[in-house]
Amino acid sequence: MPVDANTTAYNTLWQVRADTWSSLEETASQLVLAGTGQRAFEQPFETVTGLLDTLGPIERLWAFPGTQAIQKLRRLLAAGNYGRFARLVSEIDRALATGSYRGGHILDMGTEDEAVDRLINPADQARTDRPYFEVLVVEDMTEQQESSLREEMRRLRRPDDPFIYEIVVVPSFDDAVMAARLNFRLQAVVVRRRFTRRSRHDSSSLAQFAYSGGSADLMERSPDERAQVLARSLARIRPELDLYLMTQISVENLAGRLSHHYRRIFHIREGSLELHLSILDGVLARYRAPFFSALRDYSHRPTGAFHALPVSHGNSIVQSNWIRDMVDFYGLDIFLAETSATSGGLDSLLEPTGPLREAQQLAAKTFGARQTYFVTNGTSTANKIVVQALVQPGDIVLVDRNCHQSHHYGLMLAGAMVTYLDAYPLNHYSMYGAVPLAEIKRQLLALRRAGKLDRVKTLLLTNCTFDGIVYDVGRVMEECLAIKPDLVFLWDEAWFAFARFHPVYRPRTAMRAARTLAERLRLPEYSERHDAQVSEIGTVDAAADEVLLKRRLTPDPARTRVRVYATQSTHKTLTSLRQGSMIHVWDQDFAQMVEETFHEAYMTHTSTSPNYQILASLDLGRRQGDLEGFELVVKQIENAMRLRDAVDQHPLLSKYMRCLTTADLIPAEYRPAGIDQPLRSGLPNMIKAWETDEFVLDPSRVTIYIGATGIDGDTFKRSHLMDRYGVQINKTSRNTVLFMTTIGTTRSSVAYLIEVLVAMARDLEAQLADMSPLERDAHERAVLRLTAPSAPLPDFSGFHPSFTDGQAAHTPEGDVRRAFYLSYNDSYCEYLTPEEIARRTENGEQIVSATYVTPYPPGYPVLVPGQVFSPQILTFMRSLDTPEVHGYRPGLGYRVYTGKALEIAATTCPPPLPATPRT
Ligand SMILES: Cc1ncc(COP(=O)(O)O)c(C=O)c1O
Repeated sequence: MPVDANTTAYNTLWQVRADTWSSLEETASQLVLAGTGQRAFEQPFETVTGLLDTLGPIERLWAFPGTQAIQKLRRLLAAGNYGRFARLVSEIDRALATGSYRGGHILDMGTEDEAVDRLINPADQARTDRPYFEVLVVEDMTEQQESSLREEMRRLRRPDDPFIYEIVVVPSFDDAVMAARLNFRLQAVVVRRRFTRRSRHDSSSLAQFAYSGGSADLMERSPDERAQVLARSLARIRPELDLYLMTQISVENLAGRLSHHYRRIFHIREGSLELHLSILDGVLARYRAPFFSALRDYSHRPTGAFHALPVSHGNSIVQSNWIRDMVDFYGLDIFLAETSATSGGLDSLLEPTGPLREAQQLAAKTFGARQTYFVTNGTSTANKIVVQALVQPGDIVLVDRNCHQSHHYGLMLAGAMVTYLDAYPLNHYSMYGAVPLAEIKRQLLALRRAGKLDRVKTLLLTNCTFDGIVYDVGRVMEECLAIKPDLVFLWDEAWFAFARFHPVYRPRTAMRAARTLAERLRLPEYSERHDAQVSEIGTVDAAADEVLLKRRLTPDPARTRVRVYATQSTHKTLTSLRQGSMIHVWDQDFAQMVEETFHEAYMTHTSTSPNYQILASLDLGRRQGDLEGFELVVKQIENAMRLRDAVDQHPLLSKYMRCLTTADLIPAEYRPAGIDQPLRSGLPNMIKAWETDEFVLDPSRVTIYIGATGIDGDTFKRSHLMDRYGVQINKTSRNTVLFMTTIGTTRSSVAYLIEVLVAMARDLEAQLADMSPLERDAHERAVLRLTAPSAPLPDFSGFHPSFTDGQAAHTPEGDVRRAFYLSYNDSYCEYLTPEEIARRTENGEQIVSATYVTPYPPGYPVLVPGQVFSPQILTFMRSLDTPEVHGYRPGLGYRVYTGKALEIAATTCPPPLPATPRT
């Protein structure tokens, strides 16, 4: 098959396509030389034919260069017209690489001669400044009909159209689904009534990149139903696509019955102008960035500023003798756009009613939320807002102990009773995985046994983790809701905003999982499933813990509420200025139970002078995600896989480094699909693993194991990557470094990283060659230290009884707020060295931390206020060689509570607050 006869070297079709065109160009020029007898090459003709065979099924799904171009090339080849063949290939390749085809005219190939001429000298200088997209038309039509439709749509273009598009016609359901999965330029689909189920083309070569998965009885259904099924399939894969239906029957009747997925329905005889205008209008609706536009317009208006904002319109800078280089560096526009909500003219973040409100509504639509709120101080603040909005003092919150510090502080401020959940440890790499569902269920059931389930408010988890472990969000919520039907979920998706834009990732995002769950709960089949569970085990409320732990639980649809929140650092994985973050809400009870407290919480944590540039960038980041998120994420994954391949297949690099795989980071018990490297073995396998496994690994995160270099993660990051080569990364462990690819990663940046890693490996080889026996011994000891098992990561040891609720039925939740504030009184605290703590602990004394103790890396608190030191924790801390441990003072030791303080805390222990459900 393609390029190097090895498609498994590719993980996305995008790369196969680009590389095949480049190979074709190279081989075509060899063919020309061979044809003129100047040089002999082995079988260039066969190679060219093979490459065209590879491109055939791919180009059927794209408007440019499209099937016509492939047919033309085949004709030129058959006629022995190698010169023209090579020129046409080279022009297409260049147009694809530079995007020059986006003017739209170069597709008018006409005869062979014209084709070549037009590609080289486009008769009508194409405007490439307008965004370009493609529209999929689904109908089984002849070549003749296809050309006249294309011509008809082109004739409708006007010079002032905001965008330009081309159509790509496919005849069947299968082809349409394949195109939606693979052609990331598509923005709209026009479904016409006559399409078939199966493709008449052989698309088996694309099977590893996409599959259609349509229903077998499609052709037995009515044309309306067929159109519905197709709309549903397309919307599942690409919800952002605008869908249009063209039909011959009574559109008025159909309009009321058809799925909401169709944006509009047209009668086929009414011509194409309305359709054309609607297509442009649909894309324009997503292109609009109301707050960005308002800010830009505002910045160009003359104003006299008598507000406390000296930089407004750059006034304090352009008149300055000393800081004019600020404008030279940043440009004037950023200061022209500096404004304040209280100066009037623009919307206010705290009470949005105009363009800002609209921008947030558009974001809600794009991210599949019911409400979206912009946040200008990162997800650190977004998390505190949501926690404060949901949690009252005394409410029990279950939380991954390894969550971001903002949750720890948020829960402390809220006065929550916190139950820490333990993630599975990856001791060999000194990092944590994620929290198994069984652990969450166990904790919920323990709280039930203690009669405290009504006080449990929220479950808070990180999806995905820093290292890329992704939960089965839907399943976690389903099973927890079976035990506690009104549990509220906060999913920290600081690292996962991009996931919305890829069909395989999307079902594991909080917003999509919430919607899916709410839809499923309404289905009669779901009630039947629940009824079957009741006949098997009785009601969940009455069933024994062991029974509930062993089986997959179905919540009671009559009692369950779907209440889900997600926080996302847009600035981490999509486009936004630093600190741009969003809160997405999918809560059935938001209006009745949360809206007001949410508003208060938002006011508590939001500046009254928010940065409008950040807000405008969030608006644009949403637009980008909507219109090109899919393309960017596909490329991001491809780049990550290239990085993995380059490391693992390089003879020198693979001696010292290894990319960790799904099998390394997720124990087999959490992967029933049993696929060790899901994406590597083809997209269908990735889909299977992502549909079934408890945890999956986000392939865009590449953790490289560097134990064999003898250099620890932190030194590798600071002294090698950063200081010598200017490569920035933000996470390391004892023996790993994490390289994160994003939508901003380019092939060149991947290539540069590989160069750097190879240079480091070469240096290491050279140093090893020159080492004296003593130095070599030291190196081998360093390697052994990094590759031998380290002290196991400690579990959460428990709160001291003084900080629990003092009830007889003991469960592990603790009052972090009390434990935190007690330490404000210095006389209650003392510093103890690790040795002293170890000695006293051995003697049976409980030594209790007065602060958060957070080694960095890994960056998670090993101790929180009120937590008891355990031998495990002390051993782990002793084994750490990280330079930073927040909460530990090397000269003094750990800040702990005195025995007296613990006695006082125990006597002042307030009675637990009853749960007070808001109504
Ligand atoms: C899981 C998680 N949540 C929240 C945050 C905070 O996000 P931000 O940097 O946007 O404040 C981080 C930061 O690294 C994080 O890792």
